[in-house]
Amino acid sequence: MAARIIDGKQVAADIRAELKEEIAQLKTRGIVPGLGVILVGDDPASKSYVTAKERACEEIGIYSDDNRLPAGISQADLMALVQRMNDDPRINGILVQLPLPRHLNEAEVLLTIDPDKDVDGFHPVNVGKMVVGEKAFLPCTPHGVVQLLLRSGVTIDGAHVVIVGRSNIVGKPLANMLIQKSPTGNATVTVCHTRTKDLAYYTRQADILIAAAGRPGTITADMVREGVAVIDVGVNRVEDATKKAGFRLVGDVEFESVKEKASLITPVPGGVGPMTITMLLYNTVESAQRTAGLDVD
Ligand code: GUN
Repeated sequence: MAARIIDGKQVAADIRAELKEEIAQLKTRGIVPGLGVILVGDDPASKSYVTAKERACEEIGIYSDDNRLPAGISQADLMALVQRMNDDPRINGILVQLPLPRHLNEAEVLLTIDPDKDVDGFHPVNVGKMVVGEKAFLPCTPHGVVQLLLRSGVTIDGAHVVIVGRSNIVGKPLANMLIQKSPTGNATVTVCHTRTKDLAYYTRQADILIAAAGRPGTITADMVREGVAVIDVGVNRVEDATKKAGFRLVGDVEFESVKEKASLITPVPGGVGPMTITMLLYNTVESAQRTAGLDVD
C-alpha cells in the first residue's frame, strides 16, 4: 500500500481561515486578540520558530507583543516581564519560547504565567485540568496532532495508538489527550521511550503510530504494519552541503520506505510543523473569546 500523504499545510490553512472569521467577529465588538511573545537568547532554531509565530499572528489579525531578550537576562527581569503581560489587558496569551538558557529556572517562569493566558498549555494548572478531562488550554503540538488525525478521517476511538517519546511537550500530553473518555479520545495508548525493550514489538502493533523521539531514523519500514497511520513529530536538522543553509529537516521516520506500507503519513517538513503554530493561534483566539465572556467549547 502506498500512503496518502497528509498535507499539514492545507489542514493548518483551513483552521487559520476559520480563526480569521472568529477574529473578524471579535473585532466587531472592538476586541483584538493579543499574544505576548518572549524569546531569550539567539538559538537559531528558536529564533526561526518565534519569527514564524509572529508572522502567523500578523497574517490572521492577532496583535503580537514581541520581546527579544539578551541571553544573559536575569530570572527576576524575565519574571517581571511575564508579570507585566499577565496584567496587560491587551494580551490574551503568553508564549515563552523554550528551552531557556541554562541559568534560568524554566519551571519557575512557567508557574508565573497566568493559567488563563497560558496558551502553550504548559502551566501545571492546565496540565492538571487536561489530565482530569476539564476544559484547559491544550499544548499546541499534541493538539495539532489530534486535529490532523481527525481532519484526515482517522478513527481514534478504539484504535491502538503507539507513541514513541515521553517528553512533557509532546508524548506525555498526547497520551493523556488520547485516553480521555471523549469523541476525540477513547484510544488504547502505549507510550514507548529510550528505556523500552524491543521498540519494534510495540510499534508493529500500532493502528496509529506517533513518532516524537527527536532522533532521525527511529522508525524504519520493518517496524510498522501494513495500513498504519503515521504521524511524524520529529524535526531534526541533518547536514546537507547541497542546501544553502547547510542542513535540511528530517523527521524521526524513514519516510520513503515507511510510506510504502502506511495508509497515511505526514511529511517533514509540511506535516505537524504548521499545525503547532496554528493551535497556538487557536488557543489565543479562544482566550480572547473567554475574556470577552463568549461561550466557547
Ligand atoms: N519549544 C519547542 N516547542 C515549543 C512550544 O510548543 N512552545 C514553546 N513555548 N516553546 C517550544
